[in-house]
Order: sequence, then C-alpha cells, then structure tokens
Amino acid sequence: MIPWAKPTLFGKEERYVQEALRSTWISGGPFVDRLEKDFCETLQVPFAAVVSNGTAALHLAYLALGVGHQDEVIVPGFAYQAAANIAILCGARPVFVEVDPATWCLDPSALESAITPRTRAIVPIHTYGNVCDLTAILSVARSRGTPVVEDVSESMMSEWEGRQAGTIGTIGTYSFHATKTITTGEGGMVVTRDPELDQRVRLFRSHGMLRERRYYWHEAPGHNFRLTNLQAAMGCAQLESIQEIVARRRAVHAMYRRELDGESGVTLQHFDARVMPVLWALALKLDPGAFPQGRDRVIDQMRELDVECRPGFYAASQQPIYDSLALPVCEDLARNVISLPTFPDLTEELVHTICQGLRKLKR
Ligand SMILES: Cc1ncc(COP(=O)(O)O)c(C=O)c1O
Repeated sequence: MIPWAKPTLFGKEERYVQEALRSTWISGGPFVDRLEKDFCETLQVPFAAVVSNGTAALHLAYLALGVGHQDEVIVPGFAYQAAANIAILCGARPVFVEVDPATWCLDPSALESAITPRTRAIVPIHTYGNVCDLTAILSVARSRGTPVVEDVSESMMSEWEGRQAGTIGTIGTYSFHATKTITTGEGGMVVTRDPELDQRVRLFRSHGMLRERRYYWHEAPGHNFRLTNLQAAMGCAQLESIQEIVARRRAVHAMYRRELDGESGVTLQHFDARVMPVLWALALKLDPGAFPQGRDRVIDQMRELDVECRPGFYAASQQPIYDSLALPVCEDLARNVISLPTFPDLTEELVHTICQGLRKLKR
C-alpha cells in the first residue's frame, strides 16, 4: 500500500531524543529553547513559542488576542476546521466565508461583507500547501483594524511574494503532526512580530504563570500547552533537515505536475504566481463526468490498487455543529476533491503508478 503520508526521518532525530532522555530533561529542557531559536532563524521572525499541537497554537493565538464571548472569527468554509472549533470553545462564533474556486483558499472578496463590529480575528487557512491572497486579506484587515491569524499548519515554508507564510499576518500557527512538513509526533508553534502577543502566548501556554516573576502565582487562568524536551529534540533534528525536506516536497509536486497538468477529467488546485508552495498534499478536483462513480468510490477503487487517498474537507455548511449559510463553492469542493499520497520519499515511479491508477478509473 502506498500510504497517503509518511514522515521522513534523517537519523539525527534518534540521537537528539536519546540525548534528551539521557539528560533526564524530559518535560522542559534545552531542546525546547533551541527549537524556538532555530525556528525564528528559519522563518525570519522575532518570536516563536513552541506548543503541544497546532490546535493549541490556534487556541493560544485567540487567547492572546482576547477572542471571547460574543466575538466573531472569520474562517474559510472549506478547510481543516480546528480554527472554527477553537473559536467556539472560546465562546466566539465562527463566521464561514467562501473560498476561491481555483485556489480553494479564503476568498478575499467574500471577506468585506462578513466583517462586523464583532469581528475579532480573520483566519486565512493556507490549505494543502497553498497560501491565501495575503495582500488582499491584509488590506481589508488593516482598513478595519482586525488582527489576522494565519493557520500555516499545512503550509510551513510556503512563501507569499518571497515572504514566509505565517510571518505576514499578526500571528502564525503551525502543526508538527506526523503528516506535516516537520514533525515532532504532536507539536506546534505560534509565531509573531509583536512582543506583547508573544508574552501573552507564553503566559497562557503555561498555567498563566510567569515563573521568572513569581513561582506558583497565576496572572491569568492558563492551559498547559507546552511541548516536551523529548519532542523538541526531534523537532530540532527535523529543522536541521528543513531545506532537504522542502526540496523533496517541491520535487514531488513537480512530478505530479508533469503527470497531471492538462490531464482531462481532473483540475489541480491552482497556485497563484505570488505563491512559492511547499506542498502538504497534492489535491485535485474530479470532474463527475469523467468519474461518474463519484469521489468516494474512486477512493475505494484506489485502495483496491494499493494507493491510500483522502477526500477533501466537508464544507462547514454541511456539518450540523456549525451555523453557516450555504457555501456552494465549498460544497462543490467537498464533493469532488481528492488528495493523493504526498511525502518527501515518494519517487517518480510511485507517482507514475498513482497517476496511472487514477487514469484507469476514468470513464
Ligand atoms: C489547517 C490545520 N489547522 C490545524 C490543524 C491542527 O493541528 P494539530 O493536529 O497539530 O492539532 C491541522 C491539522 O491537523 C490543520 O491541517
């Protein structure tokens, strides 16, 4: 079976984790500080706070911005919805907007009319390695004085006009889950250029305590969203190989493009010329005329060919836990998007096998 995703380890992970283990620093420890420092250097951003996962990263971003009861948070209706769920858990209301039918990212033209006096944050989610139109989104956000939280969980190292995604808005949040660009098993990061926001993230990350000020004194009711030194050790090793990971993911993207650009019956996710993507998952939209069996059946048929694929996200408007207007573009993507195996170790031969498999299922 060709898996949908697979982390690539480069050897140093084991050595660093062993080093952390032998040092007996297994909760906090020097790898945590090092990972934050190395991340700042890699992403060219002044502040990075490492956290236990990408969902915690979003939660801390909201807490730092003061998102709370009766606030609204604007999120795209087609995406991995951690950003919406955490808004609800903070007592706020996610307001879902359409995505662009080509890039599948938050449509800036839908933004203006979704903003109200209650809007506390706009969350562009950079889906599958793409980057939302940050120029247009930030222009609307700035005119309203609204903070922008970039959810970069799927797009670490992708660039928008030569700048790292995640470092352009007010706050950027990352996930280091096993399928992501770098991994610590579970893990994440919150980055910002604002020292006060960074301080608030750190406060809420660790019980609302500032130990350097006073031990066991709670300045605020906080979480424990810290990452362990063991996991950070793995992150440091992964980050040392980041250029290789990026190069391999870009090579895999190029292989898929050679196979599938211009292929009838499928439409690949579109990347704006201002985006330099690092692909998380190669995703495409199936034309129901060419695949009358339907996307879900195609996934089953690919599995019979020993290829693991995944469906696109459900639209927010299809899920009863959310309160959303109809979102026709998101719903269309939800019905027809499929993502194919994408990981750094994929070879040209395997990519060819996967694409040949898909071709065979076409009418
Ligand atoms: C866009 C996006 N946001 C947030 C998350 C949540 O990250 P985590 O699983 O690390 O909590 C994920 C993936 O899991 C994601 O794809």
